[in-house]
Parts: sequence; structure tokens; C-alpha cells
Amino acid sequence: MSCCCGKENENAKEMQVDFEKLAPIVSKYKGTKGTLISVLQEVQEIYNYLPMEVLDYIAGEIGVKPAKVYGVATFYTQFRLDAVGKHIIMLCQGTACHVNGSKAIEEAVCDELNIKEGETTEDNLFTLENVACLGCCSLSPVMMIDGETYGNLTPDKARKIIREIKENESKGV
Ligand code: FES
Repeated sequence: MSCCCGKENENAKEMQVDFEKLAPIVSKYKGTKGTLISVLQEVQEIYNYLPMEVLDYIAGEIGVKPAKVYGVATFYTQFRLDAVGKHIIMLCQGTACHVNGSKAIEEAVCDELNIKEGETTEDNLFTLENVACLGCCSLSPVMMIDGETYGNLTPDKARKIIREIKENESKGV
């Protein structure tokens, strides 16, 4: 899938975009200048990323040129243009974590989820991202899932953590 800015969106998965969810945001910000970042933040909260068709829709609805909307969405790192899973696994590849075996953790996580780094699982449950230092090097190797930090990882421990999340998902917890 490619967007108007020419960027290939390789990880995007086919998903239905429910435009009805956007109505409250549009009515809240329509006609108010200087609110584009707030609009995009709220839109991203709904979808977990910014689908291209939504950016087009938002531009039309709030009266901002599409190029400006894309410009803001691509400029700020807080915004995602690729679909991501419900649980984002941020696996630290900083120096301390690297020295303490983060590559083996990555291999275990990739194997457990059957994806490569940067990809999202078929069921849209997990996205794996390598990141730089998470700021808790004394716990290395470290990963963060949904804002929770898991340290002193071993490949088995990482697999167990992921299996527990999968299990909770299957129970609807
Ligand atoms: S290097 Fe991984 S937390 Fe600092």
C-alpha cells in the first residue's frame, strides 16, 4: 500500500475503518484553527495508528489541506502511519541489553510470534519493535509491552510473558 507522500506502507494490514467513530472528533474541532495535532492524537487513540483514508477524511472535514495533514502526521514521531498490533513489544537493543543477550530475546520473540522485527502478527495482536535504550539498563535485557517493563529477560522468560498475554486475550481478560 502506498500513500500520497510516496511512502510505502508495507506493514499495513487490510482493516475496516469505521468512520463513524470520527464524528465526535470532527464536531469538536471543526472550524477551530491550530488544532490539527490534537485531532490527530485523538484519531490515533481510536485506531492505534493513522490510516491514510482517515487522514483524507479528516482533511476534508476540518477544512485543512491534505498535504498539511500528511505533513504533520509524518513529521512528528508520536504519529504512526502503519497499522500496529494491540500489544506493542518494544525490545531494547541498546548497548547494555545487546551485551546481555537482546538478540537471543529477539529470536525467541520472533519465533514465538512468527514475525520479524517491525512486523505485526496476522491476528493483529502483537507488533515487535526494536528500540534504543529504555532507560533501565540495570535490568537488561529489557522489553516493554503496553508500558510495562520486563527485565532480566531470558528467551524462555520472554516466551512465557508473551504466552501469558495470548492466554489472557483468549480468555478475554
Ligand atoms: S540498553 Fe536496554 S535499557 Fe538501556
